[in-house]
Amino acid sequence: MNQDQYNPSGYHILTYGCQMNVRDSEIMAGLLEGMGYLPVERPEEASIILFNTCSVRHSAENKVYGKLGEISVLKRKNPHVMIAFGGCMAQLPEVQKRLKRMGVDIVFGTHNIHELPALIEEVRDKRHSVFRVWDQEGMVVENLPSSRKAGLSAFVNIMYGCNNFCSYCIVPYTRGRERSRLPADIINEIKKLADQGYQEVTLLGQNVNSYGLGLDEKVDFADLLLKTAEVEGIKRVRFTTSHPKDMSDKLIDTIAAHSKICEHVHVPLQAGSNQVLKRMNRRYTREHYLELAQKMRERIPGVAITSDLIVGFPGETEADFMDTLDMVQKVRFDAAFTFMYSVRRGTRAAEFEDQLPLEVKKSRLARLNLVQYRIAREINESLVGSIEEVLVEGPSKTNREKLTSRTRTNRIIIFSGPEELIGKLINVRITEGKTFSLFGELIN
Ligand code: SAH
Ligand code: SF4
Ligand code: F3S
Repeated sequence: MNQDQYNPSGYHILTYGCQMNVRDSEIMAGLLEGMGYLPVERPEEASIILFNTCSVRHSAENKVYGKLGEISVLKRKNPHVMIAFGGCMAQLPEVQKRLKRMGVDIVFGTHNIHELPALIEEVRDKRHSVFRVWDQEGMVVENLPSSRKAGLSAFVNIMYGCNNFCSYCIVPYTRGRERSRLPADIINEIKKLADQGYQEVTLLGQNVNSYGLGLDEKVDFADLLLKTAEVEGIKRVRFTTSHPKDMSDKLIDTIAAHSKICEHVHVPLQAGSNQVLKRMNRRYTREHYLELAQKMRERIPGVAITSDLIVGFPGETEADFMDTLDMVQKVRFDAAFTFMYSVRRGTRAAEFEDQLPLEVKKSRLARLNLVQYRIAREINESLVGSIEEVLVEGPSKTNREKLTSRTRTNRIIIFSGPEELIGKLINVRITEGKTFSLFGELIN
């Protein structure tokens, strides 16, 4: 290693997983900067390397272990380097055991992020490793510092944890029970964001539809959305994730009624067979979902409905899988994330007997993607000629000459235009539709 790259007060965070983790990493960054650390581009330059991890699927964990192996080499070369390990994986006992053997200095969990500075100091003073993971959630901690990426769009947590216990899912074990932040705390945060120039906020929760349960104040997610949309300076409001079992009429009408609330609903179906849905403990039927999708399409003009889908759940028959394909064709999702079922130790589905072979899962995933990608492309092609309001985000990642922007329905449109447009809401005409993005032109 080139020693002059090393910065004794540099920190580097590696973030894996969902938007919750992206948001948590901003808080970890804020805590580190409060201690005098500064962000560095590459792990080689850092004296603290922090992993913020995800355990939702086996593949997510594997990625982390691979990277941890790489980073351990840096530590062997330079013993001053401190490795901290947090996030969802850190909550799991079998992961903690494995980390004991891997030379990690700090292990902390999703419930005690605020303890990070104290843990770092403890390691510095005592020169031994510190494993401190709370197995249960504490009170919601407000007013933690945070270092958000400067920009147009910000994530805002509205609730933590999940009570749904879908039988395949590890999240309720890594994130604890559901608890909502107070509306006043959320709205104050959003007002500050507006003052700092952010134009768009995305409200985050594992199941935003149950926001407000357990608070003294009588408030639900629709109320909170409306309050958010009323914040001056905020031009667009997004939210994720919605659960099909409790997507209320009031919420649908609120999305429809307020122009700042974007008409995009991420409402994961997961599977199309009632048998499978039941064993997944999703607590709705395909009929319910179809009705819900139809209602949203009727009441929210132009709404984009997106989904997560799992293939190869234990016991999924060919007929069950055909039910998923059938639902994909009936609902016509604007986009979907598709996954092979992955066994998560400690969840109920891990105990189910009829686990499917990898080959079956792989082939079903490929067949599902073929159908879903075709539908996404057809929908995007059908948009050619229409005019969409977009928020211009910056230069396109694939072609720096062009600009990338996002529609209200969360579609990406690439177009040519002057850099002055970055940060503005403008109209573009769609000229070409592909599976994952669209091309457009400026309208004079
Ligand atoms: N709270 C959100 C999503 C959480 S995890 C929700 O309820 O929709 C994101 C997605 O990962 C899930 O929607 C699901 O499709 C997928 N997922 C979760 N556990 C999984 C597992 N064990 N194997 C494969 N996919 C999984
Ligand atoms: Fe997991 Fe289900 Fe909770 Fe989503 S709702 S986080 S899939 S348990
Ligand atoms: Fe992963 Fe934890 Fe999010 S398991 S998907 S980082 S809540």
